Amino acid sequence: TRPLKVALLGCGVVGTEVARIITTHADDLAARIGAPIELAGVAVRRPNRVRAGVPAELLTTDATALVKRGDIDVVIEVIGGIEPARSLITSAFEHGASVVSANKALLAAEGTVLHAAAVEHHVDLYYEAAVAGAIPLIRPLRESLAGDKVNRVLGIVNGTTNFILDKMDSTGAGYSEALDEATALGYAEADPTADVEGFDAAAKAAILAGIAFHTRVRFDDVHREGITEVTATDIASAKQMGCTVKLLAICERSADGKSVTARVHPAMIPLSHPLASVREAYNAVFVESSAAGSLMFYGPGAGGAPTASAVLGDLVAACRNKLAETTGPGESAYAQLPVSPMGDV
Ligand code: HSE
Repeated sequence: TRPLKVALLGCGVVGTEVARIITTHADDLAARIGAPIELAGVAVRRPNRVRAGVPAELLTTDATALVKRGDIDVVIEVIGGIEPARSLITSAFEHGASVVSANKALLAAEGTVLHAAAVEHHVDLYYEAAVAGAIPLIRPLRESLAGDKVNRVLGIVNGTTNFILDKMDSTGAGYSEALDEATALGYAEADPTADVEGFDAAAKAAILAGIAFHTRVRFDDVHREGITEVTATDIASAKQMGCTVKLLAICERSADGKSVTARVHPAMIPLSHPLASVREAYNAVFVESSAAGSLMFYGPGAGGAPTASAVLGDLVAACRNKLAETTGPGESAYAQLPVSPMGDV
């Protein structure tokens, strides 16, 4: 069987881990896919930076040329942000490549447009890694629960803020002290604003709500409040009431089913609730559906290896589809329900 050619765009913490697994697990991946994978190129901004396990001869600074080569089967985008990721993904589709992306900001802003472009070019768009790192959520919502009716998705989808709030709760530390520790441990994004102001969680909420309720929810539709105003006193008061504070993403279908709401804000959680025991940078998401009832998904929501695990799962799916000359599920948003940030309060 012909080898499947894969291009990697971005080689930071996640990209390096993806490249390492593609190389070191080559035999296992080939067996699962039914054909070997060939890493055809790795686009980076700084080619001189050392990346353990990534062959130097594969590095290029010309991501545009890499996706336009025409012989790439799957493009993995782990650059993040809107541009140049959007143009590169669009160009990849136009040149016949499926795309695996970890880009929550882009998916939350342009998911519908990108899905349409993938469908037009008969290729796949997968993005399990965009929400809650290693935790399988996109696929369960899109596929396993496709015959059920999801009514609510609620949980902790940002590891950095959970780490900060957990530190404040367990040590009595103030917000800035806890943020410094999260940054030192490498949990926070390059700019922690995205985490602490709730932008990251809001993007994930938009993606989850869109898939769960088969409608279009954009980042701007999500009510957002971060954790920068949460003080050590707030945490201590919550504790006295038998609660802890968590940053929650809450996506709900209205009782009449005619609209949906999505919001991100700090919330008091009773210590008896399973979400209260989600520590450090872990994530946990509850999915409530009509037939299945309550499901809980829990695991590492950030970090190189956990996020790479989700990317690799998507890569295997996209490669299998390429071999079978088929595509996986397209966009599940077939309705346009009104989205209100807070719903009926
Ligand atoms: N900064 C994100 C988090 C990374 O802390 O959860 C994963 O999206």
